[in-house]
Amino acid sequence: MEKESLLYEGKAKKLYKTSEDGLVWVEYLNQATALNGAKKDKVQGKGELNNQITSKIFEKLNERGIASHFVRKLSKTEQLVKEVNIIPLEVVVRNVAAGSFSKRLDVLEGHPLPFPIIEFYFKEDRLDDPLINEDHILALGIATNEEIQKIKTMTHKINHALIDLFNELSIKLIDFKVEFGKTAEGEILLADEISPDTCRLWDLKTNEHLDKDVYRRDLGDLVPVYKEVLRRLEEI
Ligand code: TMP
Repeated sequence: MEKESLLYEGKAKKLYKTSEDGLVWVEYLNQATALNGAKKDKVQGKGELNNQITSKIFEKLNERGIASHFVRKLSKTEQLVKEVNIIPLEVVVRNVAAGSFSKRLDVLEGHPLPFPIIEFYFKEDRLDDPLINEDHILALGIATNEEIQKIKTMTHKINHALIDLFNELSIKLIDFKVEFGKTAEGEILLADEISPDTCRLWDLKTNEHLDKDVYRRDLGDLVPVYKEVLRRLEEI
């Protein structure tokens, strides 16, 4: 199978057409961004780390019966995925208060939530990805009610599987973001990536940040932190 023309370039990945119908070649870039792209840096080794971490996590989720676009890892920085139309929603799950939730609602970071909270953000850079609700999704025609319910069911299942997985790594899953895509047949699949870029991961014992907050908050170098997550994943 051959890599063909560039389909899309995002903040952290490039997507290419392949010689095989329905398959897309993904290249993870050495780019770190925050604040919707306002903070941007080249970080040597990041693409490799996120590709390997995401590949491992999608494999683990697949073992738990969670369907994703992931097909296989192609190289240290590349993976093969099924072609999907991304539903323009960032689906956030919060198990513990942190980040924008803590800021918006004045809840201390680290405060456990009584149940996992699902939030939807409209993926639209021009609008800075605003928080929206299910009525907004329906009214804007982003997804049908059936699709929203399917996404919520899948998201809860992903949350349970990820909590268990990270627990094995002595990591607390504070919150995370996932995206979903639709295949040509209309099947909804987990898509995009799951990595320290898209999750808040705190060390179980020390509460140390093992995620992109290290970069967002200028707490230090993200490479050793992401390496530590990959090291723990490779041990299980
Ligand atoms: P937030 O607290 O900034 O809303 O972020 C919640 C979670 O979603 C956190 O784990 C980081 C992740 N996230 C992304 O992956 N991409 C984004 O664009 C945003 C805003 C958050």
